[in-house]
Amino acid sequence: MNVIPAKVREQLDNASQSHLLLFWDELSASQRTSLLNQIDGTDLKMLDQIWRSSINDDSPLDATARIESAKSPGQVVGQPQSAADIDRWKQATRLGERELEAGSVAVITVAGGQGSRLGFDHPKGMFPIGPKSDRTLFQIFAEQILARRRRHRSTIPWLIMTSDATHAETLEFLQQHNYFELGEDTVHLFQQGSLPALDAATGRILMNGPGELALSPDGHGGLVAALANAGLLDLLAQHGIRHLFYHQVDNPTAILCDPALIGFHAQQRSQLTTNVVRKVSPTERMGVLADINGRTEIVEYSELTPEQAERCDASGDWIFWAGNTAIHVFDREFLEQLAADGGKLPLHVARKNVAFIDDRGAAIKPNDPAKPNAIKLERFIFDALPIAERTLIVEGNRTREFNPVKNRDGADSPETSRAALSRIAREWLAAAGHAVADDRPVEISPLHALDADELAQKIASRTIRVADL
Ligand code: UD1
Repeated sequence: MNVIPAKVREQLDNASQSHLLLFWDELSASQRTSLLNQIDGTDLKMLDQIWRSSINDDSPLDATARIESAKSPGQVVGQPQSAADIDRWKQATRLGERELEAGSVAVITVAGGQGSRLGFDHPKGMFPIGPKSDRTLFQIFAEQILARRRRHRSTIPWLIMTSDATHAETLEFLQQHNYFELGEDTVHLFQQGSLPALDAATGRILMNGPGELALSPDGHGGLVAALANAGLLDLLAQHGIRHLFYHQVDNPTAILCDPALIGFHAQQRSQLTTNVVRKVSPTERMGVLADINGRTEIVEYSELTPEQAERCDASGDWIFWAGNTAIHVFDREFLEQLAADGGKLPLHVARKNVAFIDDRGAAIKPNDPAKPNAIKLERFIFDALPIAERTLIVEGNRTREFNPVKNRDGADSPETSRAALSRIAREWLAAAGHAVADDRPVEISPLHALDADELAQKIASRTIRVADL
């Protein structure tokens, strides 16, 4: 392609984005095609609207009103306390197990994020986290799925959402490990879309190189469109999948396909069920579930000032106590409905520093945290909550289920997550009558046991020797 198509030039001129073609003459034929594809996939009108509303400072007022009107979530299935609760949880667990046996459950792992806070240069799923074995996050999830398949004698498809940033390496990693014995045909990688970063002052799309827009993944809310585009919603329907167990790649202690969560979800015909845990402090960096204007929503930690985060209700409890573990169960038909509506959840604007090339082609690396140069756009999957007619919140067991790897050190770091894996293994061993010293790292592969009961049984029947763990 030698000549810039007139229609493209006109569109870019009208949108004040003609700088995207400044380096056209220097580009190879394939670079030109790729640039035109990137431009074609960009909704210039929508970007202009977003940028204009980002500079017209009218949203903070709405945001304050939203937070002020928030109440703690009214209907939560709490952790079992009484004998009646225990019965209720057992019933839900049995129902969830039946759903698993019927083959109506698939797992979705969102693994498209760039993991920049952790400072790991590969897809986060490849991060070694096993306290003794250095098992990666992906391996722990794969082994959980394999163990569930064996226990419930059914196929549980595994869907992994990747992004441009993580796709090729994730695919290669899974191939190298032979899909951890799950069978390639039951593991589906699909790629989320991307969105360009805009110059915060001018709204111009930033360029990453002469023939490349500065693109980044479109947020986990890109899931709906990505699933539909990859034909996976149809495939799931053909396989009789009704419930999608959704989790993030960063939490090795998430109980994949948790039968109790699936059971409550199925029992209440929920379209979107969310697992929450009590935050450890009001300002902990977790999104929180709240009731806003009669609908369940998630308020992100970045939206709350410390004073707002500390607000209490009449009983003295924090309003924003219910931390989002980002473990959900989706009803497949609800995802289909979202996809049919265009799959376009709202866009969120984040001000960040983004490297770019200027109009002369010089590489610029802004790094003033007080004055980010760009706005980045993302969709969040939990914006589906207020759209759903039937939602459900179930409280999980925090120390057992929520030990993510997010930061290089401090809270939610590899150190805290590994310690949690060891602690959980020690608790299971202690329950099976084998005390282990606190300072000894212990690890139990999901293939050995998915829970304390399974471990105790296998030790009692000598299927497992404690010395081998
Ligand atoms: C997220 C939730 C927060 C929740 C917390 C629990 C958001 C905005 N907030 O916070 O409510 O309490 O987890 O741990 O998500 N991802 C993609 N594609 C993307 C972006 C992210 O697949 O484009 C995936 C990441 O790989 C990761 C997950 O989404 O698995 C979370 O992303 P991250 O941005 O780290 O969220 P948090 O700020 O930790």
